[in-house]
Formats: sequence, structure tokens, C-alpha cells
Amino acid sequence: MDKYVIRGGHPLTGTVDISGAKNAVVAILPATVLANGVCRIENIPNIADVATALEILASLGAMVRRIDRHTVEIDSRTIVTQTVPHDLAKKMRASYYFIGALLGRFGKASVPMPGGCYFGVRPIDQHLKGFSCLGAKVMPMKNGMIDAQADQLQGSSVYLDMVSVGATVNIMLAAVCAEGTTVIENAAKEPHIVDLANFLNSMGADIRGAGTDVIKIYGVERLYGTTYSIIPDQIEAGTYMAAAVATGGDVTVCNVIPKHLESITAKLQEMGAEIEEFDEEIRVSASGRLSHCNVKTMPHPGFPTDMQPQIAVLLSLAEGTSIINEGVWENRFRYVDELRRMGADIQVDGKLAVVQGIPQLTAAPVKAMDLRAGAAMVIAALAAKGVTEIEEIQYIERGYEDIVEKLQKLGAVIERVTEDDPGLQQAL
Ligand code: EPU
Repeated sequence: MDKYVIRGGHPLTGTVDISGAKNAVVAILPATVLANGVCRIENIPNIADVATALEILASLGAMVRRIDRHTVEIDSRTIVTQTVPHDLAKKMRASYYFIGALLGRFGKASVPMPGGCYFGVRPIDQHLKGFSCLGAKVMPMKNGMIDAQADQLQGSSVYLDMVSVGATVNIMLAAVCAEGTTVIENAAKEPHIVDLANFLNSMGADIRGAGTDVIKIYGVERLYGTTYSIIPDQIEAGTYMAAAVATGGDVTVCNVIPKHLESITAKLQEMGAEIEEFDEEIRVSASGRLSHCNVKTMPHPGFPTDMQPQIAVLLSLAEGTSIINEGVWENRFRYVDELRRMGADIQVDGKLAVVQGIPQLTAAPVKAMDLRAGAAMVIAALAAKGVTEIEEIQYIERGYEDIVEKLQKLGAVIERVTEDDPGLQQAL
């Protein structure tokens, strides 16, 4: 079991380069299934979810060529099957984007129910409703497989009952080569939705309105190969900003789109952090005790649920009482027990958490409960007194490229150790 060992109490300083966005790339890689040509994707983050998506593409028969650590070329013309293997699908949530993409390209898809982080039930009824609206026949689930088929997908109007990133992506993928026009109402507006639309448009699609809650997709006959660079990861950037604030540091996050970070910068400022924005960089610094504030997570442009655990760490250290209202997921406070081991004073009642700030967290052995919960543990450990060990780091590495190296460059005392390598721990 690999783990991170972190000695806290060192303010982070310097610059950090933000990688390509996980939640954009996990939609764009499946989208390459739709191309009649080679897609070259640049600024790919080197994370486990990307490796899984590429393995799925290869298992379908696509030619996948790694050009370098952040660039890949995919030729989907060689795809021979429309069935995604179980062992790969269970490794990541976004494996279900292959349903929309395979259905859009071949008129059939057979994809297992996906894995991914657990935040209570994660239904996919809106995805399936979307496929049905486009004329696909979605079979009742058998052996954990979702099977969908269509002779010819037809453009249609789809109203989402709730704002869903996944359903918006999947419907876009299925509709892009359908006959006629599809309108998605109450669509998700996240930056990765816009990135996917831009990618598909660069392949010859005709998608308008991405970034608003009505997306119009004018079906086209064919999509072609393209070269495309993934947008920077909003949540990775927010995580380093929070880490800077938690440690009383001074960090410039580079290669970001400041507009995507507005809801995060606003909250950090409310807590007393200093923020300076540049074209593609944000400098964040903090000193002294943070102020309490309330946070409600919402679909974009609201405060992102994927920053909720990280902000909870900051509120645990702030003066006074803060309330966090989780507005997206049913159960995204499972990490609170871990944070309590480090001394945090947090009471959870359903989707609400009441955080009573304390002056100092203390080191403890903790676990990453999921990707962002794991990032929160890293931030807590960086701020805490003493040496914290974090287990289950495979969750963190699903979504954060080179987190240990990036933090070390900022002056953090962090090592990744394996069970049979106990010597390193003493090095801290
Ligand atoms: N929902 C339904 N039915 C559906 C789809 C969603 O009831 O058919 C509900 C969900 O249960 C949830 C809400 O709608 O309460 C929003 O879910 P959404 O579909 O937007 O989430 P997702 O597409 O499964 C993506 C991100 C998550 C992020 C959410 C919300 C990817 C691969 N995942 O999930 O990211 O939390 O949007 O912004 O894009 C992460 O990166 O750590 C992560 C979990």
C-alpha cells in the first residue's frame, strides 16, 4: 500500500504549473471515437483516469500513440468492437461517455455500469432518457451492462430534470452526428462542457450555446481528425490555491484561465486571502487566521462541489463557525471523519456541515476517501503540526498529475512511500 508522508507547517511558496483538465479530457478521449481521422490531443494530464480511457480506446481497436507525456494521437478508424470491458469501465466514472460516443458513431454500444468516486447514489437516468429521446433503444440492464442501439439517431429536444455534466456530455456525443437538430435544455455550463463542444466543432461538428443552459446541436454527417489542446484544470488550480492559503504561503498558479476560477477566488478572498489575477496566472497569499464564511456548492458558475472538501479544510482553520451546504451530491462528507482525526470540529447533518474553526490541525494517520477528499487530506496535512500519513492515495493519483513533485517544488515536505520502503519516512 503506497502512501504519502507529509510533515506539515511549511508555507508553500513559488509557482506551480496546472495540468490539463481531468473532466475535460475524460470526455474528449471518448469523443475521438467519432472521428474519421487522426485526433492529436495536447496538454493531456498524466493521470490514472487518462491511462484508463486510453486503455479502453485500445481495447476497442483504436490506434493509440503516445507522442510524449502530454500528447497523444488516436485513430478510431480501426475500432472493431462496441463493447467496453468490465475491468476497465469499473476504474473510472467517465467510462460511460463511451456509450454516447459509440452510439453516435456505430449506432450501438455495450458499456458496463461505471465505477468512480462514491458520493451516495449516482443515477444515470438522464443519460438514458437523452439516448431514448434521440431514438435509441436502451435495453433493461443485464449483467451490469448498459446496451443501447439505434438504426439512425434523430435530433430531438431533451430537457434535463437536473443539471448534469455527465448527461450533457453523453447527449452531445450521441447527437453530434444524428439526423437533424438536438436541443439540450437545462444543460450543464461547466468549462469542460465548453471544451468538449470546441473539440467537437474543431472536428466539423455544429454545436452552439455550450456554456449556456441551452445547447443546440445541428447534426452533421461526418466528423474528421483534428489537433486540440485541453483547457487547464480548474479544480487542480483551486486545490493548489487552497493549499497556499492553508499553509499561509504565497503561490502563483500558472497556466490557468482566471475566469474559470472566479467562484473559488471569491471565497478565498472572503476568508481573507490576497489574490492577484494576471492573464494566465493567479497569485494567492495568506497570513494570519482566516475568517469564517458559508459555502454552498452548485453547478457552474456556482462554487464547485469538487472544491468542497478542500475548502472545508480551510474553514476548519478559520476563526468562527462556517456552514457548508452540499448542493450537488447526496453524500459528499465522508471525509469528515478523517479530518476529525486531525482535530477538526465538524458536525454533519445530511447535506449540511457546521464547521467550528480551530487554531491548528494535528497530524494523524488518515485515508483518502475519494479523489477530492484525498486532496483535502493533503492540504490538511500540509497545514498540520507533525507528520501525517495518508493511505489510499490511488484515489488522488486518478486526478492529480505529479502532485508530490509539484508540492515539493513549492517547498512542501512530502514523500510518496511504498510499504517496503520504510526508510524514506525517517528522511522526513
Ligand atoms: N444525476 C441524476 N441523474 C443523472 C445524472 C445525474 O440524478 O442521470 C444527479 C447526480 O446524482 C448529482 C447531480 O445530478 O446529484 C449532478 O451530477 P452530474 O451528472 O453533474 O455529475 P457527473 O457528471 O457524474 C461530474 C464530474 C464530477 C463532479 C460533477 C458535478 C466528471 C467525470 N465528473 O460528475 O467530478 O463532481 O460533475 O460537477 O466530469 C471529480 O472530479 O472529483 C468529480 C467527482
